[in-house]
Amino acid sequence: MNIMPNSAAARDIAYYVHPQTNLRRHAEVGPVVVSHGDGVYVVDENGQRYMETVAGLWCAALGFSANERIAKVAYDQMRKLGYYHTYRHTAHEASIDLAEKLVQLAPVPMSKVLFQCSGSEANDTAVKLAWYYQAAMGRPEKNKIIGRERGYHGSTIAAVSVSGKPDMHADFALPLPMMRHTEYPHYYRGHFDGESEEEYATRMAEALETLILAEGPETVAAFFAEPVMAAGGAIVPPKTYFAKMQAVLKKYDVLFIADEVVCGFGRTGNWWGSQTFDLQPDMISCAKALSAAYQPISALLVNEKIYQAMLAQSDKLGAFAHGYTHAGHPVTTAVALEVIRIYEEMDITERAQRVGGHMIKGLQSFAEHPLVGDVRGVGILAGMELMQDKATRTPFEAGRAGAVMDRIGRANGLILRVIGDRLAFAPPIVITEAEVDDMVEKLGRTLDQAYMELSAELSAK
Ligand SMILES: Cc1ncc(COP(=O)(O)O)c(C=O)c1O
Repeated sequence: MNIMPNSAAARDIAYYVHPQTNLRRHAEVGPVVVSHGDGVYVVDENGQRYMETVAGLWCAALGFSANERIAKVAYDQMRKLGYYHTYRHTAHEASIDLAEKLVQLAPVPMSKVLFQCSGSEANDTAVKLAWYYQAAMGRPEKNKIIGRERGYHGSTIAAVSVSGKPDMHADFALPLPMMRHTEYPHYYRGHFDGESEEEYATRMAEALETLILAEGPETVAAFFAEPVMAAGGAIVPPKTYFAKMQAVLKKYDVLFIADEVVCGFGRTGNWWGSQTFDLQPDMISCAKALSAAYQPISALLVNEKIYQAMLAQSDKLGAFAHGYTHAGHPVTTAVALEVIRIYEEMDITERAQRVGGHMIKGLQSFAEHPLVGDVRGVGILAGMELMQDKATRTPFEAGRAGAVMDRIGRANGLILRVIGDRLAFAPPIVITEAEVDDMVEKLGRTLDQAYMELSAELSAK
């Protein structure tokens, strides 16, 4: 790539460290500089338009266009009260209104809300509260947290430790020593020949129980799960999986924390993934679509059981010794509340089911394509697995098909979310059926071109 001196790309290379980016390679190739958004498209500084098939980072539920209504709420709030904190018995209306709204919307009875700026911080807070709760119950040794292989809960120290992502632990001296990981429910790749979804789910729950017993139930505080694993590959759990997992948690008195950072606010066709999969969590973290990504905000909802333990800790320790300067920031909370009003007006769950159903049908039309091993989705969220040999479920050399799809997709005007050799689809929920058709058409072309390239590579070996 030809990078002009003093261009935005050159200054980016000079000054900015990019997350989740190969830094050595970035210094050579530079960034795609996105200049503005237009509905489900983003446009780069050269005017090239790309359809965003995963709403940025699964977050821009209302797309990328200017939104005067949200901008006005932010502007008005900045003029009225641009900042105040909520420490030491202070409050402001925006955060009160949003907390009340979230408790009303919660999928199971929830008692209170804590605010942070990111999904990672919400999950770190949940880990701390799981420990705090167990300490309040007089069993501080019940402190292990179980996540799942390939689960993703964020980049902060506790959240990434719960995440089953060895690539994100390497050379960071992680995971923390009290974190454990159980199997992840990828039925298509993991099932034995002839094993039904239900039997596979039983095996997953048995693996969890074996782990809890090996560790000692008296040492296991909490279990974390995304209703649909997002960054792990957009993996929809098999039938009966969560019912069986929750029975194990209940048996050993292990808290359940549902990470709704991606699934919350319509993505799975209900307000919450917990409704779609009938979850009974003790805490729920959410972020991303909470503000449609117009502001950085996350929330952690806790049930009465957790809250009562927190109250007891105040009796013992004094102030709840936790917090963030920007927790419940008035601009972020005002914007999130307005975004939720917009979701209610547009009937976001109906839209996610209708347009998402159309999207999943479109993606499933590639079921017979020689590259496509599996397509599964729920709401407006789906995963597609690319396979070298479908008949024997043989994958490509790790990540090869995904890398080829990524490059060809971009040339065809599609930003694809490639996770190894899986593609995740979670476009802005405002996507229209006609835009879904356009996405499916471009994807079909990309699959055909990638197949030709990958086949040529294999026959040259
Ligand atoms: C399920 C899930 N939890 C937590 C996070 C972390 O959120 P953030 O990047 O806002 O810290 C992510 C981010 O992708 C996520 O997908």
